[in-house]
Amino acid sequence: MQLLPASPLVGTDVVDIDLRQPLVQSQRDALIQALGATGVLFFRDQTLTPEQHVAFAQQIGSIDINRFFTPVPGHPMIAEVRKEPDQKSNIGGGWHTDHSYDTAPALGSILYAREVPRVGGDTIFASMYAAYDALSDGLKKTLEGLDALHSSKHVFGAGRTRDWGDLQGRLQNMGAATQDAVHPVVVAHPISGRKLLYVNPDFTVKIDGWSIAESNALLDHLYQHAARPEFQYRFHWTDGAIAFWDNRATWHYALNDYQGERRLMHRITIAGVPLRRDAVSAAAPVSAVTG
Ligand code: SIN
Repeated sequence: MQLLPASPLVGTDVVDIDLRQPLVQSQRDALIQALGATGVLFFRDQTLTPEQHVAFAQQIGSIDINRFFTPVPGHPMIAEVRKEPDQKSNIGGGWHTDHSYDTAPALGSILYAREVPRVGGDTIFASMYAAYDALSDGLKKTLEGLDALHSSKHVFGAGRTRDWGDLQGRLQNMGAATQDAVHPVVVAHPISGRKLLYVNPDFTVKIDGWSIAESNALLDHLYQHAARPEFQYRFHWTDGAIAFWDNRATWHYALNDYQGERRLMHRITIAGVPLRRDAVSAAAPVSAVTG
């Protein structure tokens, strides 16, 4: 197995590995360290059955079943991310991190390409380490004392403010959108210990204790800053490719530029841990911080 940088700030290409085979401990440790350091692992040309996809995920951590995505038939632990040629809306077409509305947000997701369009349908990843690092010292100091409220209700709930459009059927369970969580705006990454910006446009509702107007002004500034192209990497999918992203260190955005074509992905989400302002301990064993 070789680990190669995919871009200066985001992502690692993992080559010479067949994910049908069990990982040895040194491989697992190297993958988790690279995930924590660069935010996403990319694999190509994998030929996994759904059972092998689950088995790979379970070597990383326990599976956090997403209650809002329709599962792959017969595989309740795998969420289906599907867009048919006659469907207009896509899942994940906006900057977000998965499950930030949970008290223990997911570690990350392992998205496996089953069928990709001839062109288009790329996913963009943005480094929240880079976004944090590039803030002024003054704003960093202000943000380090703040918490933000995250929610699933306005996206997935019965009273949602988003129009699902033809996502109806691909998303489900609006009654399960009861989650709100408060997280620090700047967190220490559970694996690397590095500081990162932990707010996202889809699920962060407001800065705790601030008015909506004050909060929107700050969040809008942070979102514009964090979406700067130099913090991003755009991944072009091929059949059998996998992107395994870390949900704390990155945002992601699924482009919806392939109308009239099918795109079918299988996603498994790995459980994470509650997030903290400070690193737990530089010496924490990898297995203790991955949920
Ligand atoms: C997602 O947000 O989980 C979907 C990403 C993608 O389909 O590229």
